[in-house]
Amino acid sequence: MAKTEEQPVSSIGQRKADHLAICANEEVGFRHISTLFEDVRLVHDALADLDERTVDASCTLLGKKLRAPLIIAAMTGGTDEAGEVNRELARVAEEMGVGFGLGSQRAMHVRPSSAPTYRVREVAPTTLVLGNVGVVQAKSMSTEELRALVGGVGADALCVHLNPAMELVQPGGDRDFSGSLDTIARVVAELPVPVVVKETGCGLSPDVGRRLRNVGVQHLDVSGAGGTSWVGVEAKRAAIAGDDASTSLGETFWDWGIPTAASVALLAPLGFRSVIATGGVASGLDVAKAVALGASAAGIARPFLKALRAGGPAGARSAVDAIVRELRAAMLLTGSQNLRALTRSRRVVTGALSEWIEQLSGH
Ligand SMILES: Cc1cc2nc3c(=O)[nH]c(=O)nc-3n(C[C@H](O)[C@H](O)[C@H](O)COP(=O)(O)O)c2cc1C
Repeated sequence: MAKTEEQPVSSIGQRKADHLAICANEEVGFRHISTLFEDVRLVHDALADLDERTVDASCTLLGKKLRAPLIIAAMTGGTDEAGEVNRELARVAEEMGVGFGLGSQRAMHVRPSSAPTYRVREVAPTTLVLGNVGVVQAKSMSTEELRALVGGVGADALCVHLNPAMELVQPGGDRDFSGSLDTIARVVAELPVPVVVKETGCGLSPDVGRRLRNVGVQHLDVSGAGGTSWVGVEAKRAAIAGDDASTSLGETFWDWGIPTAASVALLAPLGFRSVIATGGVASGLDVAKAVALGASAAGIARPFLKALRAGGPAGARSAVDAIVRELRAAMLLTGSQNLRALTRSRRVVTGALSEWIEQLSGH
């Protein structure tokens, strides 16, 4: 039987509450590895022939025009607290002209009464909104049920997330990932909206990229290593539950994954329509570096949750504003009038990132 049917509904809500609390309050970043954006240097243009006011950071992503190539990445839904987070961050996204990702809609599927906690269109009528479901849940759902999840929240696209590392560490997590590629192929072929295949903090390799492309996937979110460690989050939950074996597994794999910058650099040449750089994106300069490596946009999750917790909607708004300002500064300083120019700008790749690219290109 599919896990969505087996699992008591209340445990999904409790897990969502744990995730928000742990992500807002505890140290769950990668410990010893980074995104490797520090190994990308954009080249300073001291003679940029530009007026800052005319720098254009806008883009079209998944059919929606954004003022900047940025998404408040998937986090939550399913509880009253989660609904509030969704509405507050979606409103900020609408005001700032950036995209917004809903958290996993599994709770909405098993408990339709939780649907209002995912409804953000009242506060974000025009901006890009992404639905979200795990591939293991998608496998057990009909295309009609998935279509209802998307339609029920007015999403422009559906993220299908992959999270095997986190599930292995999660007490009671999914263990059967067989059939994931077939599921994705079905969903891509049958859903009427674009499908974004998304990791959750361990990154996508070029081999995975090719397998996805071969079944028709056109949009990826690499959600790479270097930001929030979801293995770490689950290790913390396991420790609270007194599950020593899962805690120990989580400690060993805390830093597992492909750094975000490496994932973007390796996947960008493969011909996807969009590659979104999420995972440890810490500044607008990181966004600029991601675009220079070939990303279409960047996503940020936990830092925006923390900004919301610390300063309310105004805090989240100024966190988004800071990212956009930094991106625009990087564009001016590289002489890039728009994102197309930034993509073409020269960059120097050093250190470990150049090793990842060299050793995994073509593999
Ligand atoms: C509280 C929280 C909940 C999350 N829940 C989901 C989810 O339901 N679905 C999903 O695809 N990703 C989820 N993520 C993962 C993020 O979308 C993102 O891929 C990951 O956290 C890396 O980005 P970051 O380093 O900016 O946090 C969640 C992240 C956070 C912080």
